[in-house]
Amino acid sequence: MKDNSYQGVMGRRNEIMKKAVGLNYEVFENPGIGFDYEKLMRETGYSLEEVQHIQAATGVGNTPLLELKNITALARKFSPEGKGARIMIKDEASNPSGSYKARRASAAVYHAKKLGYKGVIAATSGNYGAAVASQAAMLGLKCIIVQETYDSRTVGQPEIIEKARKCEALGAEVVQLSVGPELFYHFLLLLEETGYFNASLYTPYGIAGVETLGYEVIMQVREKYGKDPEVVVCTNAGGGNLTGTARGILKAGALDTQIVGASVDLSGLHMASDTAFNKKSFTTGHTGFGLPFTTWPDRTDVPRSAARPLRYMDRYLSVTQGEVFYITEALAQLEGIERGPAGNTSLVAAFGIAREMDQDAIIVVQETEYTGAGKHIQPQLSFARSNGIEVRYGDPKTQVPGVNIILPEHPSMIRGVDLDLRSIRTSLIKNAVKFSGATQVTPEDIEFLAVETRLKELEVEEILEELQVAYQKGGKS
Ligand SMILES: Cc1ncc(COP(=O)(O)O)c(C=O)c1O
Repeated sequence: MKDNSYQGVMGRRNEIMKKAVGLNYEVFENPGIGFDYEKLMRETGYSLEEVQHIQAATGVGNTPLLELKNITALARKFSPEGKGARIMIKDEASNPSGSYKARRASAAVYHAKKLGYKGVIAATSGNYGAAVASQAAMLGLKCIIVQETYDSRTVGQPEIIEKARKCEALGAEVVQLSVGPELFYHFLLLLEETGYFNASLYTPYGIAGVETLGYEVIMQVREKYGKDPEVVVCTNAGGGNLTGTARGILKAGALDTQIVGASVDLSGLHMASDTAFNKKSFTTGHTGFGLPFTTWPDRTDVPRSAARPLRYMDRYLSVTQGEVFYITEALAQLEGIERGPAGNTSLVAAFGIAREMDQDAIIVVQETEYTGAGKHIQPQLSFARSNGIEVRYGDPKTQVPGVNIILPEHPSMIRGVDLDLRSIRTSLIKNAVKFSGATQVTPEDIEFLAVETRLKELEVEEILEELQVAYQKGGKS
């Protein structure tokens, strides 16, 4: 008889996980803090060509690139003379499950089938569940989605409820849980009982699946406009979207394209809190995931996350809930395209950045998802009101997440705010030292941390000094 108490199952965590992802992470570990990320991606992921082949077989990818001429014209109205870059979207809603997550799921589910697993399990509150369910249906595998659906009153956010229905519609069994630590326990127990594959969002297969997105963006912009885009904006939560896209952009040889992350500002709302659970109008692409995962990626359901956004980010902007609602409506009414909140988070950031850039510059926004019954503005705003959130017009920058939603009084107010990347990098270094338990940081560790944070080794040493962490000198400038 197995001990299925909380402690018992948690105690078997590593063993369960190893069996369920079919991957031994230990061989990629270096002594000390680091691990060989590129080796992990090279030896266990799929090449770009393999992913293209896998995705073509299930109708994933090759999504359209659309120019938003009317939104660009609106941005130019509030831009200095000669400014107002061309804004385009990469329309990921046309993937089979309605979001870019189909790219991640396609590689993960293909891999599960190749290894002979009978089914797949994913712990996710959203689009990824639908994507895994869709891919599992296509490849004839069973699918279980474990979802944090409700607060303790069994009240669920409209978007999360919609996504539970979508997963079920696509043939998955959805285990609906309330917010809290028992999700991981149930997830482990199900993996152990079924012997299914853990279609984690954070394996090398999943991230390799997103590389095609970045690669396609570059090829499409080159073909249509004869150059590389100046900026690509990616909505950032767990970091896989930005990481995979950036890797694809680099594989296309676009070395000068700036990679910008964007997240909705939900500061002050705790993600694991029962009372805060239904006070947010966004279920992904927000700072509640974006900041912790960027400053410490290895907090997922695999030992080393293949999503490492700080390696690729040139800028990181926060935007407000009210701004995203506004731009969602602007996209629908000016361009005739209704899309979901996650992608429109990036569109807000792009609307601000465009006004800093010359008119011949190109910004590509990842419009990462469809919209639907629960993601739409109306159910979200009604739900927010019924949870005591004030909704009004004003200056969106004066918002307090969980207290009010401020729709911009005028579109000129729509502009993201740059987050301080130096302090985000400092947090990553601090976390890396803390979680590794290192007492002395070696030159090899410094080399790893420099790549993790896109800093020079001497800059890492400077931060270690600020943090009062002992290290061996020798860093390169
Ligand atoms: C539609 C959509 N866009 C963007 C994101 C952000 O992706 P990531 O978590 O990899 O940063 C998500 C993740 O939940 C998503 O579902």
